[in-house]
Amino acid sequence: MRKIVVFTGAGMSAESGIKTFRDSDGLWENHPVEEVATPQAWVRNPKLVLDFYNARRKQMHEVEPNKGHYALVDLEKYFDVEIVTQNVDNLHERAGSSRVLHLHGELSKVRSTRNPNLIYTTENWEIKLGDLAEDGAQLRPHIVWFGEQVPQFETAIKITQTADIMIVVGTSLVVYPAASLIEYVPFNAPVMLIDPKAEPQSRRKIEIIRGTAAEKLPELVKKLISNENT
Ligand code: APR
Repeated sequence: MRKIVVFTGAGMSAESGIKTFRDSDGLWENHPVEEVATPQAWVRNPKLVLDFYNARRKQMHEVEPNKGHYALVDLEKYFDVEIVTQNVDNLHERAGSSRVLHLHGELSKVRSTRNPNLIYTTENWEIKLGDLAEDGAQLRPHIVWFGEQVPQFETAIKITQTADIMIVVGTSLVVYPAASLIEYVPFNAPVMLIDPKAEPQSRRKIEIIRGTAAEKLPELVKKLISNENT
């Protein structure tokens, strides 16, 4: 089976009802990112940070995967598919995709503030001040905040280097190191980018597909499957 690596960003979940980051006013759900998504914010006002991610987690439980998420599940019947996502929601998994790497963490997980390896899956949408890990330290969201290392980046590079085809969906490609991932796609592997605002990239040749994930991904998947079967 040929290998397809799919790299997704916030636009992937937009039609499920989760807002993207950079579409409007530079605010994320009415907050400047420095106020809610940095290690400094956590030191300054942990309750605000917890409340912010509690709201994101609650919303995640209320929304559903869209047609784009499901199209990627269909692709697995014909291709070896791996998804690398910048999204912290679990919509790829809930649609049924089997291999998903989260570069920026996961809303459905929390971890100890003292030991980054003490990670727990939570069914609950709410974490409060005073909710502790086994080591007695406060729990925090298992999220890569701005200014923090991206521990899964090396793994993401290795996955990308195995691609026969790369599909990029719904990302503004401005946040590093994630945005540099496309530079690791093998030279002869085609790269396609689905995004309503996609701009030509100078870094490498990319087939631009202007449109939304729920509209264009099912079309692309159908085309790839039919080419593979002829
Ligand atoms: N389908 C596809 N793409 C869409 C859709 C849609 N329905 N709606 C919007 N988009 C596109 C926008 O045109 C934009 O290019 O999705 C992109 C979203 O870009 P960002 O909001 O910048 O999201 P992303 O690239 O995922 O951000 C990267 O930055 O805030 C941090 O850690 C956070 O993982 C995030 C990272």
